[in-house]
Amino acid sequence: MKQSYRSGLVAAAALALSFAAQADEIVQIGHVAPLTGGTAHLGKDSENGARLAVEEINARGLSIGGKRVTLRLDSQDDAGDPRTATQVAQKLVDDKVLGVVGHLNSGTSIPASRIYKDAGIVEISQAATNPAYTQQGFNTTYRVVATDAQQGPALAAYAAKSLGVKTVAIVDDSTAYGQGLADEFGKAAETSGMKVLSRDATNDKAVDFRAILTKIKGENPDAILYGGMDATGGPFAKQARQLGVRAKILGGDGVCSTDVVKLAGPAADNIVCSEAGMALEKMPGGAEFARKYEARFHQPLQVYAPFSYDAVYIIVDAMKRANSTDAAKVLAAMPSTDYKGVIGETSFTAQGDLKHGAISVFSYKDGKKILLDVVRM
Ligand code: ALA
Repeated sequence: MKQSYRSGLVAAAALALSFAAQADEIVQIGHVAPLTGGTAHLGKDSENGARLAVEEINARGLSIGGKRVTLRLDSQDDAGDPRTATQVAQKLVDDKVLGVVGHLNSGTSIPASRIYKDAGIVEISQAATNPAYTQQGFNTTYRVVATDAQQGPALAAYAAKSLGVKTVAIVDDSTAYGQGLADEFGKAAETSGMKVLSRDATNDKAVDFRAILTKIKGENPDAILYGGMDATGGPFAKQARQLGVRAKILGGDGVCSTDVVKLAGPAADNIVCSEAGMALEKMPGGAEFARKYEARFHQPLQVYAPFSYDAVYIIVDAMKRANSTDAAKVLAAMPSTDYKGVIGETSFTAQGDLKHGAISVFSYKDGKKILLDVVRM
């Protein structure tokens, strides 16, 4: 009798334990960026930021609706390619992720956004700046960077006022980002009093820019706006110098990385570029974040890590406010986001853009990135 009473107790305890185990829940957070190809270093940087957030949140412990929740990062490679982007978006939907930090490029975020919208899953892009991304009327589409409707004019104003640029040539990489930034810069250049001498297009896999640069050299502009990423922008700046082009090379966030110094060589000193957010050194938690990042990953951060880090925290913040791990409830909590993180205070407009963005302008000197100006939106 005594024995069976004891085994009953043991059974009850085992049952309680198994209930406790069942109460634990794994929640998957998607992340998408190019993890292969020329901009893999930018995608990896973004993934590292998201991973750091997931690891911290798990280490601290997360309880939602009375359940212990463990986050798992489901990171996918879209190779910066629009078609691959829709395939990995579908994979993340099939994996039942609660939300997605991604994609990194406008050219991938825009086509993928319809898939997340149809699935009712929140998508927060850590880097997509083309205005069209959030103009599709989707309630799932958010971003934590400013747009090129802000970045283009800020860069044009800096070129006109602070660099004394009077004439510009414009080149884009034929992507949604490159073309969009070139368009926005071009419009603002005209209204800032600069003369746009020419517009040319290359592509995001190009390695040889000498034909375009030789043509532009003949136009003798004060500056060239390059709409594209650092993988092409760096060599573009390098070849411009080799050809004796005197123009400053202007770029957006895609060019404004740590590694552009390796890609452009000494010609990096001729680049002036912007980030579609607050400069790391001016972010409230910037210095601490950089320290944590370098301690964990043993490399300097590139550009997007703080943005993907905060994007994970913003999804978790919505989860906490919804007190639910249901994707629809988390999505419903997104519009009332007011989150203070590393990148500053994040709250969203009705269409999913930042209410208070910033554009930071940088140059490079002896391989170091130097902050020149910050424009708050
Ligand atoms: N800002 C870049 C884009 O939108 C990364 O593609």
